[in-house]
Amino acid sequence: MRRTPAPRGPLSAAVLALVTAGPPDGAWTEALRGTDPWGEDHQLALYLCYELHDRGLPGVHPGWEWDPGLLARRRGLERPFLAAVRDAAGPVPPLAEAVGGLLSAEGDGGPSAYLEAEGERWQAREYLVHRSVYHLKEADPQLWLLPRIHGPAQAVLMTVAFDEYGAGRPENAHALLFARMMADLGLEPAYGHYLDAVPAPALAVVNLMMLFGLHRALRGAAVGQFAAIEITSSPGAARLAAALERLGAGPEGTLFYREHVEADAVHEQLVRRGVIDALTATEPALAGDIAFGLAATEAVDGRFSAHLLEHWRAGRSSLRSPLPDGPG
Ligand SMILES: [Fe+2]
Ligand SMILES: [Fe+2]
Repeated sequence: MRRTPAPRGPLSAAVLALVTAGPPDGAWTEALRGTDPWGEDHQLALYLCYELHDRGLPGVHPGWEWDPGLLARRRGLERPFLAAVRDAAGPVPPLAEAVGGLLSAEGDGGPSAYLEAEGERWQAREYLVHRSVYHLKEADPQLWLLPRIHGPAQAVLMTVAFDEYGAGRPENAHALLFARMMADLGLEPAYGHYLDAVPAPALAVVNLMMLFGLHRALRGAAVGQFAAIEITSSPGAARLAAALERLGAGPEGTLFYREHVEADAVHEQLVRRGVIDALTATEPALAGDIAFGLAATEAVDGRFSAHLLEHWRAGRSSLRSPLPDGPG
């Protein structure tokens, strides 16, 4: 049974109040003043708004999805977030250079390298909890893009998506493989179960996908975000499969990452040639936004990685509330 998450400050409290009852006038602008767009409250508020376009929220009427008042509030959250992302991404290189940079970024370390080399089982379990906010709905956020690009790029995007949803075998949909991996590692695989434990840096990863996916104006960035996942995933997936195996996962507990070693090596090629090259051939003006999407994804993922490593190296839980086997 899914529960409504607990608020983490005035912004998420206002969204929760609005979608369940309705807040006093003016409370929103006041709440937004001077808040940190990377902060817990801001990220949860945005996550709640986006979830109304996705699986919905328990106990919330689906009609809230297109409520103009709530959309105006969402806009108020998106603007500072996008500005912060642009800031974090820094100067964006030309597209070919940005793609080349990702290809050569093979193994800069990050959580997958840490987990492979010295991770403990509680850290691997924490990693899955963080990633569950995206992977349990893989690859729904990327599919907002589908009606926004056309021709060969659209067809190739669909080819990749076909694999993400199990290539004709629903039981092999990547979201389900992730759920089975969670169960193998003794975690609760129900959608949204760990939302309250997941901190802002992990929510920001999903919020970025939804921000890019839901705005046609940002469709180039959505292509870049999608490409960044497919291009960088394969080596990281191999490290995570090895880490989980070493930490006692069974076959079900490594299948998700083993599947991605193979699949994303192919997807990388498809996305580069079939989506990026095809799209920029017909819409060259999108190249800059695609490069921004790549850089933005790297920046937001980088913040998430830094959060994990900083906590783990200090022997602390990276979650808002540790799992039973994590440090207290
Ligand atoms: Fe996948
Ligand atoms: Fe993929």
